Amino acid sequence: MGEVITITSGKGGVGKSTLSANLAVGLAEKGKKVVAVDFDIGLRNLDMILGLENRIVYDVIDVMEGRCNLSQALINDKRSKNLYFLPASQTSDKNILDKEKVEKLIKSLKEEFDFIVLDSPAGIESGFEHSIFLADRAIIVTTPDVSAVRDADRVIGIIDAKSQKAKDGQEVLKHIIINRIKPEMVNSGSMLSIDDVLSILALPLIGVIPDDEGIITSTNEGEPIYYNEKSAAGEAYRRITKRVLGEEVSFMDIKPEKKGFFKRLFG
Ligand SMILES: Nc1ncnc2c1ncn2[C@@H]1O[C@H](COP(=O)(O)OP(=O)(O)O)[C@@H](O)[C@H]1O
Ligand SMILES: [Mg+2]
Repeated sequence: MGEVITITSGKGGVGKSTLSANLAVGLAEKGKKVVAVDFDIGLRNLDMILGLENRIVYDVIDVMEGRCNLSQALINDKRSKNLYFLPASQTSDKNILDKEKVEKLIKSLKEEFDFIVLDSPAGIESGFEHSIFLADRAIIVTTPDVSAVRDADRVIGIIDAKSQKAKDGQEVLKHIIINRIKPEMVNSGSMLSIDDVLSILALPLIGVIPDDEGIITSTNEGEPIYYNEKSAAGEAYRRITKRVLGEEVSFMDIKPEKKGFFKRLFG
């Protein structure tokens, strides 16, 4: 049976979809059979990050409503043959997901895949409930600012309440990822440090990702940054993948960029 990993957050725009895409690529590159499912109904963008937007015919709602079967809707990635993708629906009706149908879909995905990576909508709307309901593991993404961390804390507080695993007396694994770390800002005190965030959220850390402009280019090109050997964010996603697979890997030391000569003199 496959493992369901739900990527969630309190606030929107903190990097869930980028993480979902890169983690799914990473797990597939490690030889696992993976499906990335976009549960952010109405706001799909996982397809863009994976570079698969032109291949979409059916979506997750079509499967649940029986308008097509699962294999018709699954899109096989162009680079990682172990990776499949199930797109979100573009419908504006955010409440279209139905609990029984979600359950049926996830159960059939668990039979076929080693990992099911669920990209969820932000916050605690109905989409959140559906994406956490059958999670074996939740990865909570936050940026190091007070409002994102506070919202993350609210979400963490209700994960167990909404989870089937917790109802069955088992534990949903929960981990934190801190994204878009800008070392200069942490040093100057204008951003929370990693320790600050962890002391508020009180959950184990599974990754730190630097703020990296290369992510924008990679999304525009539909080429996940995981593949970019030279990118710092790519390295962060590669380490996160290994940790998800149970390897012990040191955390990246996110240092300020070396100052140039003039900045050193005058800055
Ligand atoms: N580490 C990062 N460095 C720079 N930009 C990032 C980083 N992570 C995400 N972004 C950008 O932030 C925006 C929101 O990211 P996204 O993954 O769509 O967040 P969410 O799914 O949580 O709404 C996107 O434009 C994305 O390219
Ligand atoms: Mg998203």
